[in-house]
Parts: sequence; C-alpha cells; structure tokens
Amino acid sequence: MRMVLKILVAAFLPLALAVTLSGCGEGERRIVRVGHNQAADHPTNLALLAFEEYIEGELGKRYEVEVYPSELLGSQMDMVQLTQTGAIDFCVASNSILETFSKNYTLFNLPYLFASSEAYHRAMDDPEITGPIFESTRQAGFQAVTWIDAGTRNFYTVDKPIRTPADLKGLKIRVQQSPTNVAMMSLLGGSATPMGFGEVYTALQSKVIDGAENNELALTSNGHGDVCKFYSYDMHQMIPDILIGNCAFLETLTKEERAVFEKGFQMVNAVERREWGKAVESAKERAAKEQGVTFLYPEVQPFQEVCASMHRDFLAAYPELSPVYEGIQAWNAAWAEGEGR
Ligand code: GCU
Repeated sequence: MRMVLKILVAAFLPLALAVTLSGCGEGERRIVRVGHNQAADHPTNLALLAFEEYIEGELGKRYEVEVYPSELLGSQMDMVQLTQTGAIDFCVASNSILETFSKNYTLFNLPYLFASSEAYHRAMDDPEITGPIFESTRQAGFQAVTWIDAGTRNFYTVDKPIRTPADLKGLKIRVQQSPTNVAMMSLLGGSATPMGFGEVYTALQSKVIDGAENNELALTSNGHGDVCKFYSYDMHQMIPDILIGNCAFLETLTKEERAVFEKGFQMVNAVERREWGKAVESAKERAAKEQGVTFLYPEVQPFQEVCASMHRDFLAAYPELSPVYEGIQAWNAAWAEGEGR
C-alpha cells in the first residue's frame, strides 16, 4: 500500500506543485511541504506537527504546512534532491547522507566523536560548531535550519550477539549510504552493506543482511526487533538528523515571516528532544518484552580503539575543519561524565 502511495505521490507531486504555484495569487495560501521517513508516532513527526500548528497559528493566512511522514515523498536521498530543486520546501535527512552533498558534514559522522549525550547536545546547540557545517550546502540550494536528536547508534543482529569487534567479522551489516559509515564498518571487520532505511526490514527478513545499526526506535517503530534478537550498546555514533530547507523558499520570506519560521525550527528541535527520551525508554521496554530482544552492554573501548584512526584521517583530509573539531573536544572535556554511557 505504501509503495502504491509513493508511486502516486511521485507521479502527481510535480503536477500538484505546478497547480499550487500557479494558484498562489493574492489571498491564496502557499503550501509548505515537509517530508521525512519516520512513522506518524515518531518524535520527529510529532515535532513537525507542532511546527505545522505553530506556523499556521501565526501565519495561517499565508502558509499551509503539509507534513508527509513514512517516506511518502521518497527515500531520504530522494527528498534531499526534491528540497534542493524546490519541488518540496523542507525534509529531514540523516547527517550521514548529507556528507555526499558537502564534505563538512563528514565531521558529525565520525565514530565516537562525542564523549557523552550532554557533550553531543551542547555541541550541536553551539552555533560556532554547527554554523560552518549547516551553511555549507547553500550553493547546492539547501541549508540546515535545525538539528534533531536521533540518539546513539548501536549494532543489532538477527542471531549473533556482538560483544567485541571480532564478533562482527564476516557479518553483512546495513549501513547508511555514507563513505564514513562504510569505512567505519570495514575497520570494525564487518561487511558494509549500504542501503536506504526503507529497505532494511525486508533485507533483514530475507537474510540479505545479518544485522544493522541504529537507535532503539528502529527495533519497534520500524519492526527490526521482530527479526533481530540482539542489540549491543557499543555506542559507535551519535548522528543527528538535520531539518533542511530550500534556500530559494527561505529567501522569499519577509523578515517577520522568517522570524516566525526560525522560532518554528527551534520548536522542532525542542519538541523532538522532549519526546525522544520517553520514546527510547518505551521502545526498549517493548523490544525486550514483546519482541524478545536481548540488550547487551559490551566494553566500548575496543570498538573505539579500532575507529580512532578515522579522527586522524579526517583532520589530515580537512584541516580547515580542525577548529570545529577542537570546539567539540572542548565540549567533550566539559561533559565527559555524561549519562550516555
Ligand atoms: C535513524 C535516523 C534516520 C535515518 C535512519 C537510517 O532512524 O533518524 O534519519 O534515515 O536512522 O538509518 O537510515
């Protein structure tokens, strides 16, 4: 059914958009389309619905916000391209896939970049850290307007508990479509299998892959815990999701409208973050009780040591980003003792 919907949307979106634009005369409302790949009850969707309500409450005479969840507008990769061209106005993309649009995004994809959840949150809330990254895709036609917490990524497998990097040897593990993730996986000894998020469930079920890596919500919200019975807290990445907007659309906003949208973007961040902690707790409980998932807590250091060379390689390849990297280390030093571990 979802596939049929996707095909319909893909076929009719350009037409619908043309009608909207041509009908966007005086007194008519401009439709603002926002796409993402999470389910309707996911914190990301709840946050975007709050955004919709806020924008329409403040600017409802001029703008109507439409939120499309569950990959209805295509995969994340498709949605970034639609945002780039202005076929849609906003979408949520994982930081991972944005590194193919700007190398600056590589930074936030490094394994073990943040020392704790607190250090991660503080760094991502710091405009001196995010500024050089968020602005870097302007020439490509889009820019980041806020970040969205997506927790910590960990390995989970159909039937092999991961306790040390050696346990990954020979396993086919789905990773996001990002060179950094592929490099990380090969250092850790597994066989990286990049694919879009929407394809993972079927790939697990049909044993095309042996496992994947993600936050806890993938087990429940995406059903991966129906197939994968071991979830191992190796804590390899805290990869933010990024709400990106089409630059041309953002530039059409008046100063006053832009101020309202900016407040709306901050609301997306705050509502999602508030919902996130609750969602992770209930996902863990459901995965353990209803799906029979076992949670493992391996020693993190051996995984971290294997990946350490990626930080050195990154700094050698992108020396211009070393001040931002050092800025993150300062947050790590201030918040080393986080609840993340
Ligand atoms: C998380 C993240 C998504 C991403 C997905 C993935 O769910 O929030 O933005 O698409 O991981 O692994 O692809």
